[in-house]
Parts: sequence; structure tokens; C-alpha cells
Amino acid sequence: MDWGLKNRLAQIIRPETGKAVMLAVDHGYFLGPVSRLENPAKTIAPLMQYADSLMITRGALRACVDPLRTKPIVLRVSGGNSIVGKDLSDEGLTVSFEDAIRLNVSAVAISIYVGTDHENRTLTNLSKLVDEGQRYGMPVLAVTAVGKELAKRDARYLSLCCRIAAELGAHFVKTYYCDEFEKVVETCPVPVVIAGGPKLKSDEDALELAYEAIARGAAGVDMGRNIWQSRYPVPMIAAIRKIVHEKMTFAAARELFEDLKKKHPAEARVK
Ligand code: 5RP
Repeated sequence: MDWGLKNRLAQIIRPETGKAVMLAVDHGYFLGPVSRLENPAKTIAPLMQYADSLMITRGALRACVDPLRTKPIVLRVSGGNSIVGKDLSDEGLTVSFEDAIRLNVSAVAISIYVGTDHENRTLTNLSKLVDEGQRYGMPVLAVTAVGKELAKRDARYLSLCCRIAAELGAHFVKTYYCDEFEKVVETCPVPVVIAGGPKLKSDEDALELAYEAIARGAAGVDMGRNIWQSRYPVPMIAAIRKIVHEKMTFAAARELFEDLKKKHPAEARVK
């Protein structure tokens, strides 16, 4: 790895612990004003101090994040579809490398849709992005997306996706947590971070997900909805940070979360 690429990746996967707390707020690129991310600036502000990096689109970055007070950026550079469209897997590249560099980002992220009609296009786009990433010293994050087919999230399918992404040159991979998650990590030669997925039934479930993922070898989390759709987003990200960087147990993280709830009252819900 060249110096620039190593240096950028170290801004995301912290060398002190070998782990990453990434805050995902890129959902608007296909979900529009998703609940609790209607105003990205407002959602991001109280959470930013607990994250090592932000995963975001260029539009939200320019409009909602102060360039003087920010964190390393993982820029989403794929899209072109929507939740109300025909097929979520129909993604292309949406940002030029030139603009990513202009934005001084630390990595670029692209979704791949293995086993869909757009498998070839999303995988060859990943390869093109890796070529550019190698040229400019920019790490590439491959996101193993499942669109609306959430049931696909098992170890066999996710191992296949993560391994293909790594073979095509992705520098790190984001996937879902699943039963036998350790198999996904063991068969992927580059670091694997997890997405949280749609909001789980309870905050406790989200903490347990983060804990199990780290215990089974994840290099970190890139979570969104289970943080900012919680009624207690600050206690949630603070407890997740402890799990990721300080090896906090699930029980201790749950206790910390309960304690922090007293200091950070529940956010009002808008119907
Ligand atoms: C959307 C993404 C999101 O960044 C990713 O899914 C993480 O967010 P969440 O924890 O809400 O699933 O890549 O395609």
C-alpha cells in the first residue's frame, strides 16, 4: 500500500485499536428524507464527536457539514436508484474521482449487488473505482448491498460477496452481521465492517449486534439507523464506541447506555 492510501485508511480504521466507528448518514441517496435524517446537519451534529468518520454523499457533505469542523469522510459514490423505483440494484457511479479528491475525502464507497441483474455492472464499477483508488491513493469501501431482499443476509451469501469485493481490490468491505459471522471475516482478506441494517426492535438488540460483530472479528461498525433512529442517539453511539475501541462487554455497554440516558434525555418523536 502506498503512503497516501495507508494514511487515508488509518483515518478510518484507527491504528491505535485497529477498529473503526463510522457513522453512516448516506441513506438519502435512495431513501430521500428518511425518518430522523430529515435534516442531516441536525442529526449529525451531536453524534460527530463519537465517530471516527462519516459516511455521506457529496450533496449532504457540501450542504450539511462544516468543512472547518468535521471528521474524515467516506464518500458514497454510487447510486442512481430510489426506493420507489423498479430495482434497487441498478446502481452506477455518481461522483467523479476528481470531485472526491476536491472534497478531500478519506475513502470512497460503492455498493455491489451480487446475484442480481446488475451484478456485472456493479462489480466492474468497483474494479474501475479500485483502479482510480490505486492511482490516487484513495481506499475503496465495497458495500455488499441486498436492496429490499433482507433475507439474503446469511453467512454463505455474505462471504461470497465480501470475498468477491476483496478479490476485485476493495481495500475494506461493509456487510451485514449474520449467524456464523466469523466465517465471513475469516474468508475475507481485507477488513470487514458492519452495517446496522433497518432499526432493530430495541436499543439493546443494536448494542448486542455491535458487540457480537466485534467479538467475531469485525474491524468496526458503519452504522446509521440503529444509532440515529434510536430515541437515545448519543448514548447509543457512545456505548457502541466503547464496544468497538475499548472491548467493552455487552453487559457493561448496556449499563453505560442506561446511565447515559439520564444525561441525554429522549428525543421528541415527530409523527
Ligand atoms: C446504505 C448504506 C448505509 O450506509 C448502510 O446501510 C449503513 O446504515 P444502516 O446501519 O442504517 O444500515 O450503505 O446503502
